[in-house]
Amino acid sequence: MEYSIKSGSPEKQRTACVVVGVFENRKLSLAARIIDQAAQGYVADILRRGDMDGKTGSTLLLHSVPGVTAERVLLVGLGRERDLHDKAYRDAMHAAVKALVDTGVGDAHVYLTEIPVKRRDLAWNVEQAVLLAEEGSYRFERMKSKAPETRKGPRRLALAVAARGDLAAATAAATRGRAIAAGMRLAKDLGNMPGNLCTPTYLADQAKALGKETGLKVQVLGRGQIEKLGMGSFLSVAKGSDEPPRFIILEHLGGQKGDKPVVLVGKGITFDSGGISLKPAAEMDEMKYDMCGAASVLGTLQAVATLQLPLNVVGLIPTCENLPSGRANKPGDVVTTLSGQTIEVLNTDAEGRLILCDALTYAERYAPAAVVDIATLTGACVIALGHVATGLLANHDALARELLQAGDAAHDRCWQLPLWEDYQEQLKSNFADMANIGGRPAGTITAACFLSRFTEKYHWAHLDIAGTAWKGGKEKGATGRPVPLLVHFLAKRAAQA
Ligand code: BES
Ligand code: MN
Ligand code: ZN
Repeated sequence: MEYSIKSGSPEKQRTACVVVGVFENRKLSLAARIIDQAAQGYVADILRRGDMDGKTGSTLLLHSVPGVTAERVLLVGLGRERDLHDKAYRDAMHAAVKALVDTGVGDAHVYLTEIPVKRRDLAWNVEQAVLLAEEGSYRFERMKSKAPETRKGPRRLALAVAARGDLAAATAAATRGRAIAAGMRLAKDLGNMPGNLCTPTYLADQAKALGKETGLKVQVLGRGQIEKLGMGSFLSVAKGSDEPPRFIILEHLGGQKGDKPVVLVGKGITFDSGGISLKPAAEMDEMKYDMCGAASVLGTLQAVATLQLPLNVVGLIPTCENLPSGRANKPGDVVTTLSGQTIEVLNTDAEGRLILCDALTYAERYAPAAVVDIATLTGACVIALGHVATGLLANHDALARELLQAGDAAHDRCWQLPLWEDYQEQLKSNFADMANIGGRPAGTITAACFLSRFTEKYHWAHLDIAGTAWKGGKEKGATGRPVPLLVHFLAKRAAQA
């Protein structure tokens, strides 16, 4: 989709559709009022008759409105004007995009962006509009033998800023929104691909292709090289499968030579059966999404490269399958990590931490400014935070604060859980330096405690995206999260450098 930022009178736009907001109690937004005046009370009449109530997310499409150049006017409900918050704005924009897609118009001029939202500025409105427009027109149809006859979104969207609005800030926000949306699209596509096609080899090939497109430096290590490095924990998971593992390294060198990089580490389990500690059959298909951390690293690096952020960023992706076989990890097995520490594998389904720990040790060689790992790590996180917030745990409070703020700014929120010493006890093993599980209580925290034993040399944060990386049920599909959070985090760091 193409976006432009425009200020101009809503009744004079030559477009298939102008989109204007309506509040509850028949209150018109500025743009709706101008349309209504040009149409001599036509809109107010319709509202008086009760055809539309201004409730958040309601819509009404009007054709050939007198005095208005556009072919159509789409009224969109925003709820009560006094508390127009993030969610109401997003719900309204979502409904508007859906109506535009259903109508099949080729272009539209959206005036919702100039409506003030609590605590937010014009740039936020514009970025969210772009993200919601892309979200609303996303389809994953490449696995269907015939292209379904669903309608695509408009090709061109003009986003309105009030006459004295900050055009430069709005344009920058649209650019950032497009880069984030493209990164999310990549992350969603990879997540939605079935496990038989989206293998570790496929992920590595996608990373290489991304390198060619964007100029990112990409390196892929195979089983032999991973063995030579000594990543015994990662390999113990990989050896249960016939698909060979890969260790993917991506580098964006946008900063000064010698500037310490931010390292992103993404869990890339392309299918998690649980291994010998086999998962139950119900919904096991969703474990194809167990590589969404890896996908978010690729999506984020794509956005970072597109935006040419003046910052050094490294992506590390350990990727393999977790399957049961004659060569698979068994409960009670002891493995030796790249760090030298030993692990008793009490549950082969706690495999994410087994591949991440070696990648986290590998990250030390960059003397990183900060390391953030992203992983669909624990079912417990879904119980704690549901599908709204990503779990955040960190060994450095300032880094945690940065991520909390980035999540808020991007509307891709995370919430911090404690990483107190007290929880470490749960990982005690009689036979190795640590066990790979800490029992039922505080499962998300003990998983992070496990990782914390491999991150003592740098500032580190962990994002558990088990509840936020994809949706189940009828709307099953990857969400592209936390690409928006990560891009905001990195963009802010770049701006401050
Ligand atoms: N990939 C899963 C976590 C997961 C489960 C994400 C369900 C989303 C939905 C992870 O590898 C896993 O199996 N974790 C176990 C850990 C347990 C054995 C300590 C879990 O959460 O049950
Ligand atoms: Mn698992
Ligand atoms: Zn897993």
